Amino acid sequence: MLTKEIRQQYRQRRRALSPRQQTRNARLLQQRLDSLLAFRSRLKIGAYLAEQGEISLDLWIATTRQRVFVPKLYEPLEPRLRFAELTPQTRWQHNRFGIAEPVAHWGQTVHPRQLDIVLVPLMAFDRQGNRLGMGGGYYDRSLAFRCARKHWVRPRLIGVAHSCQQHPSLPYQPWDVPLDLILTEQEVINPAQRRNN
Ligand SMILES: Nc1ncnc2c1ncn2[C@@H]1O[C@H](COP(=O)(O)OP(=O)(O)OP(=O)(O)O)[C@@H](O)[C@H]1O
Ligand SMILES: [Mg+2]
Repeated sequence: MLTKEIRQQYRQRRRALSPRQQTRNARLLQQRLDSLLAFRSRLKIGAYLAEQGEISLDLWIATTRQRVFVPKLYEPLEPRLRFAELTPQTRWQHNRFGIAEPVAHWGQTVHPRQLDIVLVPLMAFDRQGNRLGMGGGYYDRSLAFRCARKHWVRPRLIGVAHSCQQHPSLPYQPWDVPLDLILTEQEVINPAQRRNN
């Protein structure tokens, strides 16, 4: 199956979830995230605001004691994501894709290497830690530095998804950044075999 067709298939699956299933999955995910992070606090965590049927982190964001950062797109030469911390004062604007992001200037944002964990949205994942995103390469570009590092693995990349987004074995490209862990409403998946790009 072509990558394009896989994307289409999972896009439909995500969208087909009822509001009730979405809420249920978001609650279960929140519990999993809370237990995973139970013994840590004030970690710097990159999260996202769910779009188009992605599993929602809103509930977790609203209740966590961790420090939450959300992506903001910068396009100096090539597009990359930096992260702005959410505070009670955060104001929002839409970027050119219509995606909500915080109003913040460069100095108020951080490079992803300054985060402890990034919760990565996705279209499909497999149990080897491969992920397929929306096709823009934004996360891959912004997290590419993780591939070059062999020992210092920060931030940890945790893919979050509905369990129905699992694909048997995804095709991957040299630039695709693999996930360290995957969390769904059903389970925590520790990719068994790491691949080498
Ligand atoms: N590290 C990189 N440097 C330059 N270009 C890149 C890099 N990573 C990805 N790209 C470009 O981005 C395009 C889309 O990549 P890909 O299909 O893997 O997107 P994706 O993983 O679905 O998206 P995202 O990373 O935003 O979730 C590719 O055609 C590739 O040329
Ligand atoms: Mg990719």
